[in-house]
Amino acid sequence: MDLVTVRELYRNREEYLDKEVTIGGWVRSIRDSKTFGFIVVNDGSFFENLQVVYHDNMENFGEISKLNVGAAIIVKGTLVATPQAKQPFEIQATEVVVEGTSAPDYPLQKKRHSFEYLRSIAHLRPRTNTFQAVFRVRSLTAYAIHKFFQERGFVYVHTPLITGSDCEGAGEMFQVTTLDMNNVPKNADGTVDYSKDFFGKETNLTVSGQLNGETYAQAFRNIYTFGPTFRAENSNTTRHAAEFWMIEPEIAFADLEDDMILAENMLKYVIRYVMENAPEEMNFFNSFVDKGLIDRLNNVVNSDFARVTYTEAIEILEKHNDKFEYKVSWGADLQTEHERYLTEEIYKRPVFVTDYPKEIKAFYMKMNDDNKTVAAVDCLVPGIGEIIGGSQREDDYDKLVARMKELGLKEEDYGFYLDLRKYGSTRHAGFGLGFERCIMYLTGMSNIRDVIPFPRTVNNCEL
Ligand code: 4AD
Repeated sequence: MDLVTVRELYRNREEYLDKEVTIGGWVRSIRDSKTFGFIVVNDGSFFENLQVVYHDNMENFGEISKLNVGAAIIVKGTLVATPQAKQPFEIQATEVVVEGTSAPDYPLQKKRHSFEYLRSIAHLRPRTNTFQAVFRVRSLTAYAIHKFFQERGFVYVHTPLITGSDCEGAGEMFQVTTLDMNNVPKNADGTVDYSKDFFGKETNLTVSGQLNGETYAQAFRNIYTFGPTFRAENSNTTRHAAEFWMIEPEIAFADLEDDMILAENMLKYVIRYVMENAPEEMNFFNSFVDKGLIDRLNNVVNSDFARVTYTEAIEILEKHNDKFEYKVSWGADLQTEHERYLTEEIYKRPVFVTDYPKEIKAFYMKMNDDNKTVAAVDCLVPGIGEIIGGSQREDDYDKLVARMKELGLKEEDYGFYLDLRKYGSTRHAGFGLGFERCIMYLTGMSNIRDVIPFPRTVNNCEL
């Protein structure tokens, strides 16, 4: 169907003014008097709505006047300028075709609905201003991330979703099985006999594409993954989802410093791209969701990220222990309240925290000379806390095997990974950016459930 988009009308209005146009969209509101009426239409292409004026000289005037909010219509008419009105132009309709009526119990009405209520109608919430803005920004951000890496020659690698290894070693995995749960085959010692399972072994949904990504970095040098990851973490917070997307670049012949430079450049690039390409949406967030968002993002683009080691960060935080629910001390993982304090109160901008104690980080991270800390980095941002986790990888075969032994990981489960340290090992590094946390950061939305089209969290897998 030859429809012009409202986006196109806004962007190139001079071309269309006083000409005939046809649009298709959904009724946001409608009011009529005896001889004419107004319909506010949103066509999904653009954040702004378009007002349609219709008159009783139309054959189906009665049908149109009875439309409910949510109905789908196709409108033909002349685009006329309305310099005095809120919107710069409207359509004087010559024809309104009803494509699909809407029942009177349409759950979205003109008033503002709470995010909580809208979560219960996840299939309809993309028809509201907030979620139109969120999901357009989500789409643009995905594009900007691909563009950033592709422009720099990174190869996009599709790592598998079903895996036989636990990348993070945290045991927070969803199992994948075809075994009959009512009649699970057992070994003589009572354990589950996975030889009868589909893959002949225990398998899970991936928690990270990193280990597979590393193998491709040792062939292509610079790669990235961008796909879904799954974690059965029982954390019912506003920042954790059971299914989320992660971007994981991996760079060979590179150390932790190169890793941080890449992460900072990527975040700044994505912020700039979204502010340039979704100005209406960003202004909306700035006005209605998070006042000060645009100033904050502008500051981020124009200043350097702060840097601090974990040990220094603990020294700083210990001075403020009275403010925290969980007191900090060297060796403990940073909680969200500590992360946010550092980035919001101490540095007031994104901060890289480096060199964490080995005990609280994954097995694959490169040991520092002190033998106590590893070359890990987390990037913390105001409003959220951790948005990126990364590290330089242990590229020494013997050291990696020793660390795996310490942690009780079986060498045979990681044969392919150890091979990388046997055949042309290079120093290399990478990180994982949580895509949803990135969208929260860009939009000011405060709950991860509101930046995922169909969120999966503890006790919630609707639609
Ligand atoms: O710090 P994490 O666990 O790092 C990794 O998975 C590494 N393998 C990445 C790498 O070096 N290639 O997770 C990375 C990021 C976090 O900083 C966070 O933004 C996000 O993934 N993340 C989650 N996002 C939403 N819900 C969850 N349950 C998340 N867990 C981690």
